Amino acid sequence: MANILCIGAGYVGGPTMSVIAKNCPEHRVTVVDINEDRINAWQSDNLPIYEPGLDEVVKAARGRNLFFSTDVNRHIAEADIIFVSVNTPTKTFGQGAGKAADLQYWEKTARQILEHSDRAKIVVEKSTLPVRTAAAMERILNSNGIKFDVLSNPEFLAEGTAIEDMNSPDRVLIGGRETSSGQKAVQALVDIYAHWVPRERIITTNLWSSELSKLVANAFLAQRVSSINAIANLCEKTEADVNEVAYAIGLDSRIGSRFLRASVGFGGSCFKKDILNLVYLCEYYNLPEVAAYWEQVVTMNEYQQLRFVSRMVSSMFNTVAGKRIALLGVAFKANTGDTRESPALSVCRSLLEEHANVVLTDPYALDNARQYDLADVADRIEFEPDVYEAAKGAHALAIMTEWDQYAKLDYERIFNSMVKPAFIFDGRNILNHRELHQMGFNVYAIGKPPLTNFPADTFEFDE
Ligand code: UDX
Ligand code: ADP
Repeated sequence: MANILCIGAGYVGGPTMSVIAKNCPEHRVTVVDINEDRINAWQSDNLPIYEPGLDEVVKAARGRNLFFSTDVNRHIAEADIIFVSVNTPTKTFGQGAGKAADLQYWEKTARQILEHSDRAKIVVEKSTLPVRTAAAMERILNSNGIKFDVLSNPEFLAEGTAIEDMNSPDRVLIGGRETSSGQKAVQALVDIYAHWVPRERIITTNLWSSELSKLVANAFLAQRVSSINAIANLCEKTEADVNEVAYAIGLDSRIGSRFLRASVGFGGSCFKKDILNLVYLCEYYNLPEVAAYWEQVVTMNEYQQLRFVSRMVSSMFNTVAGKRIALLGVAFKANTGDTRESPALSVCRSLLEEHANVVLTDPYALDNARQYDLADVADRIEFEPDVYEAAKGAHALAIMTEWDQYAKLDYERIFNSMVKPAFIFDGRNILNHRELHQMGFNVYAIGKPPLTNFPADTFEFDE
């Protein structure tokens, strides 16, 4: 039996440790956090994050070998293996502001581990960190005579499919030192994952490859989205259809079909943060051309969101002032309540700047948007859980999140309740555009020519 501890009970720590506890009944797994509300929620029937399948996994293990606590120091003292999943946001001050990772929470945690340990332990980096952070962690941890082995075990789960991703991962990556003690620590972690992950999917590398692979995986994924979005803009000018282009290129097995959905832009807590982190590393190591190459992925994503709004404004007769505009979805993707870096936030802010009356709706994410990301402008926004109410009296609807239910709404009913001419902007290309056009909507999708009811030369879209 091992005492496994995870510091940080967020979107990564909570789901990953629940799956480990469920699959390793002989180990005792504790998740700690300094945020008491979060820990209380993990102990209740109302978990702090929405994630399909999470309730069942937590219920299967909680109280048996899965525990949540705010007593960080006591659990550090008892632990054999410590996962660190604290937040590493983008730095907002000083050197590297806006790009580098802010490592203050992470360093505080390392010092806390050192202070409360009286024997050797394995410390596992779970948070995404700049490459070579493990070296700094080792220096802090090994400054007091006790031997700690530091491993890198980046998490590749995506929100909305976290439990599925953890249950059957494409791969588990573990990086460690090539010393005998380092390799023993790697083996201890391999043995935990081997409870449910086929051995050939557990790969081991040196520490630096593991740390860098996490940043690179996210950079490649985000790059695909920015690449198809760049092409979507060209499609809108040339009457090509981006869905058809994505399908055609995706059939090439060298390219592959996944992650080619054109959209209003990518969001989430990882992509932008990790790419900027990569850019900062390249600049730090004096590789400006490499840095500029990757930074363009983020620049393209910001452009995509701005362009979405300018397309809305120009198609609605160059003004949205005083017009009711319903944004369907605030979550950064479907099946999560997470709103961090969601494109809906920037679209909402730009529309407010244009003096539109914005109403937001979402099945799970309204509270996060109201309390955190849009708190400073919340009094200027209507938050409406009922999508039909949100659409009532609106001049335009815009799909911001690809929630399944938004593809199945009664659009006839919605059309009848809207101000005419009624506009719909599909930022996720999930709707049946021809059908909506036949109903009377003016339809603007990503990477497709608009389907309007205006005479051809009346309102030519022009940015
Ligand atoms: C991502 C990585 O996928 C995951 O491996 C890593 O551990 C964390 O970062 P996540 O941010 O949770 O996961 O979601 P993901 O499914 O990658 O989507 C990110 C964003 O890209 C979302 O806003 C999504 O809507 C958008 N996206 C994704 C597209 O716009 N088009 C696509 O084809 C795919
Ligand atoms: P992620 O999406 O990467 O999981 P989150 O921000 O959701 O990131 O979660 C990180 C968690 O780490 C937060 O709940 C935060 O309160 C917690 N945390 C940060 N610093 C510490 C610390 N020193 N000790 C314990 N928990 C911490």
